[in-house]
Amino acid sequence: TKQIKAARKFDPILAKLDPATRRQLELLKFAGQPAPDDPAAADQLAKIGAEMSSIYGKGKACVKGKACLDIDKASAAMQKSRKPEELLGIWTAWHDSVGRAERDLFGKFVPLANAGAKGVGFTDVANMWKSGYDMPADKFEAETDRLWGQMKPLYDQLHCYTRRKLNKMYGDKVQPKTGAIKAHLTGNMWAQTWTYLYKELEPFPGQASIDVTPTIVKTMNDSKKMVKFAEQFYTSLGMPELPATFWERSMFDKPKGKEAICHASAWDVTFANDLRIKMCIQKTQEELEVIHHELGHNYYFAAYYQLPMLFQAGANDGFHEAIGDTIVLSATPDYYKERGLLKTVVKNEKATINGQMLSALERIAFLPFGLVIDKWRWDVYAGKVKPADYNKHWWDLRAKYQGVTPPVERAATDFDPGAKYHVPANVAYTRYFLARVLQFQFHRALCKKAGFTGPLHECSIYKNKEAGAAFWKMLQAGASKPWQDILFDLTGSRDMDATAILEYFAPLKTWLEEQNKGQTCGY
Ligand code: ASP
Ligand code: SER
Ligand code: ZN
Repeated sequence: TKQIKAARKFDPILAKLDPATRRQLELLKFAGQPAPDDPAAADQLAKIGAEMSSIYGKGKACVKGKACLDIDKASAAMQKSRKPEELLGIWTAWHDSVGRAERDLFGKFVPLANAGAKGVGFTDVANMWKSGYDMPADKFEAETDRLWGQMKPLYDQLHCYTRRKLNKMYGDKVQPKTGAIKAHLTGNMWAQTWTYLYKELEPFPGQASIDVTPTIVKTMNDSKKMVKFAEQFYTSLGMPELPATFWERSMFDKPKGKEAICHASAWDVTFANDLRIKMCIQKTQEELEVIHHELGHNYYFAAYYQLPMLFQAGANDGFHEAIGDTIVLSATPDYYKERGLLKTVVKNEKATINGQMLSALERIAFLPFGLVIDKWRWDVYAGKVKPADYNKHWWDLRAKYQGVTPPVERAATDFDPGAKYHVPANVAYTRYFLARVLQFQFHRALCKKAGFTGPLHECSIYKNKEAGAAFWKMLQAGASKPWQDILFDLTGSRDMDATAILEYFAPLKTWLEEQNKGQTCGY
């Protein structure tokens, strides 16, 4: 915060400075959550932040008469159970205990964080967050709405199909035929991805399985094996091996007899290639994908660590979140077969639709959730919603964008946003929404570099050195130029744009529209 303020004395002469110096001075403003001027307030902000994270990390879902579950165990239970009462019990236990415990702390956190943002020239934290994209804050917000508008028709189709299937499974009492989807029925604590409903939603049952979880369980008893597996994709592109310190200093498993924040994260500890991940790896396909995601952060760190400190960042934060996800888009059935995780690959139209459904339950279902968390926080930090209405506003937005509703009546004393990691950890979330769009733009550009000419969803850049070199070059640029320039260098476009994701999912969209014909969709 001191450095940001010291740097501001150059504001009057910014235009006269060389572009690199100017850019670094501008980027400094976004280097972290600034502290308020008052030392007592600064201290309080830090303490409350740490306490909120700690409460989340220790959080348990305790259902009467059953063992208490940490978030990984509660998540595993929700992935598997199809008993509405059991799902409701776990959902409610987690939200009631963790959410409510965060409520008062978050209420105190907001004005303190805003004071910090004000001190460095923003109106509030929302304004600070939205200003970090090389364009005016209101323009950026409009961009997110534009992108959502491009993708909403596809989401609506998936929502319609999913709701109908859930209604058939559970009956009108549990999941009504119309309106929103009940949040406890999607196989995920936050209804943010619906991957675990795949079996029930599978378009053409009986095709060869595309789920690699069983093979992971059988062949990867050591978490390190899963990380090595992911690293090998990156090295196949010509990228370097991870440094020895990565293997020594990372946390792959939950430490025995200790509490830990298990939410996966990647760390650039010294800005000097001391890169690590911190996870409690589960033996599932989803977790294997998360490992690829985290390594994407690490490879970004590794590519740009020799740049000036302030350029050691993603072109924007959505880029950072999109790197590993781009790699996962190349994990096609053929790829998994080549790597020994799938025995047989079936190739026909039905198998294509099945594969697209599995992918959409993760990537398309997520889209409005990726938007809603910060739509809510933008309003909260800007003072547009009073603390007494925090929870109501949360569910209003979730109903409006996601078409998701809580399974039981919620009250103003509840604080359901606090039950999602990024709220107590104060990690901005729009980055994940942007990443979902960008990863398909990257994928399309890299497939082109690789000389691939077939349908986008069949492309894998595995082992392709041309694609790898282009990707690495983008990573090496870090934040040294506006993201528009960096995006242009890779893709030939200066805009974030949903045409690539729509192109990728075109077969599924057609199939869903057919399925939903004559149905009343919408929420
Ligand atoms: N995979 C996690 C998530 O995106 C953490 C991360 O961003 O690295 O929240
Ligand atoms: N990793 C982010 C989350 O867990 C987005 O996928 O919410
Ligand atoms: Zn990430």
